[in-house]
Parts: sequence; C-alpha cells; structure tokens
Amino acid sequence: MAYSEKVMDHFNNPRNVGEMEDPSGVGTVGNAKCGDIMRMYLDIDENGVIREAKFKTFGCGAAVATSSMATELVKGKTVQEALEVTNKAVMEALDGLPPVKVHCSLLAEEAIHAALWDYCEKSGVKIEGLEKPVSDIGEKEEAAEEDY
Ligand code: FES
Repeated sequence: MAYSEKVMDHFNNPRNVGEMEDPSGVGTVGNAKCGDIMRMYLDIDENGVIREAKFKTFGCGAAVATSSMATELVKGKTVQEALEVTNKAVMEALDGLPPVKVHCSLLAEEAIHAALWDYCEKSGVKIEGLEKPVSDIGEKEEAAEEDY
C-alpha cells in the first residue's frame, strides 16, 4: 500500500493536535468496525468564522493524516464553508488515499460535522445543509467505498 508524501507528512507531523478548553463546538465520532475514535474541537468567532481547530484521535495513520489536513482546511472558513470540507476534499488535498483507507477520512468529515452540530446547539446558529451527525460512521462507510 502506498501513501502519498502529503499523507506521510501529516502522519509524521500532524497539525493542530490537542484539546481545547471551552470550545465553541466539540464532537466525537467513532467507527465500531475498526474501533477508531476521533474528537474535534472548534473555536468559532462571533462572525461564524473558525479561528482554531484541534483534534485528538485514537486511530490509524490515515485517520491522523486526514484529521490533521481537515483541521488545516477548516481554519479561517465560515461554519457554512466548513461543510465543503468533505472527506473527498480532504483526500484530494492529501493527493489521495489507498481505497481501503477511504473510510478513515469519513471519520474526519463526520467529526467536523459533530463539532459544528454541537456549536449550533450551543449558539442557536443554523447551518444550512448540516445533518445530525452519527456517532458511529460504520454504516456510511460502505456507501463511501462504493462511490469511490
Ligand atoms: Fe479505522 Fe482508519 S482503520 S480510521
């Protein structure tokens, strides 16, 4: 299995690892199939712009690399624009992932959605198109592998 240089870089030097005190939104998702878990923290200003993003993951290398890239991509975006940071967008930014690792990138996407959902509940803001996130992405994974 071959990983791109960017995947290796984000795996070896993950950006934005850590926790956040008093985040605007925090979300945790897991994948019951592989047992991996990811938590995403977002700091969002009064204009709905993501100032800071941090993550913690108990997951495989691809989960680390995709969450690292996902946090980099959402920073500076509005909460609405952050919805465009899909697992496909993250994979493209990483120059691809081996097919068996595609599901790992879903963990990153879903963790962002979970953190945004939490932010909406706390702040009363509505994000158009944001669906209630699942806590276990196992079911979404099969669909994603099919259309990859
Ligand atoms: Fe579980 Fe990668 S194998 S997230």
